[in-house]
Amino acid sequence: MIKGVVLAGGKGTRLWPVTKVTGKHFLPVGDKPIIYYPILTLKKAGVKDILVVCGPEHTDQYVKLLGSGEEFGVNLYYTIQVEPKGIAHGLGLAKSFSDGKKVALILGDNIFGDEFSKDFSNFDKKNSGAAVVLKRVPDPQRFGVAKFKNKKVERVIEKPKNPPSDWAVTGLYLYDNRVFNIIDNLKPSDRGEYEITDVNNWYIREGSMDFIKAKKYWIDAGTFESLHQANLLVRKNRNFK
Ligand code: TTP
Repeated sequence: MIKGVVLAGGKGTRLWPVTKVTGKHFLPVGDKPIIYYPILTLKKAGVKDILVVCGPEHTDQYVKLLGSGEEFGVNLYYTIQVEPKGIAHGLGLAKSFSDGKKVALILGDNIFGDEFSKDFSNFDKKNSGAAVVLKRVPDPQRFGVAKFKNKKVERVIEKPKNPPSDWAVTGLYLYDNRVFNIIDNLKPSDRGEYEITDVNNWYIREGSMDFIKAKKYWIDAGTFESLHQANLLVRKNRNFK
């Protein structure tokens, strides 16, 4: 059974001044706070146990909002990322929670229209080391972009000026439990963060990285523009629960 991790730390500086007083993940999209969407994505993919990684400023509010997870039909657990040292660092905090199992990591501001239950159960059965969810986008320069060779991802390139494809790496990833050793050996990047791209490139080098293509919509609600777009998208797809 795959364990789930939702990353809900970070500073949300691109949404200042709104995020000076509240967390990005509490802002509304459609009729719910943003954080509901990644939790429901994991739940619908068949994940039962989910660790919510919170920043220290808002931990009590996460617990108040999400509680035990009963409302969602999952078991929620909480931990604190004292400083936002990067996505890979946040995942690293799930080491003991993962209990030797495979893990699904989703960023707390990512909203997906797809359901991934088949992809997750395939990953659970297979021997592949990792899988990233990719989504075709019109503006790949803004994202980590997959470079393909022989129908495999050969490399992930961060914000490329000349994108090798229009397949963006989204904020949903599956890993085997070796990911925690990989994270333990990571060095911070030039911007001082432990980068999930470095983790992904480790699996790519090993030849054990799969990919899953999202067919419906995907958006990260991290900027005023994308938050607005997320609201429009979710309204348009009203059946998205
Ligand atoms: P980002 O959008 O990259 O960072 P951020 O939320 O701090 O926002 P900004 O860039 O505007 O300052 O983070 C993506 C998601 O990952 C988001 O849901 C927050 C989460 N996150 C953590 O939980 N811990 C971290 O250390 C980082 C960098 C992000």
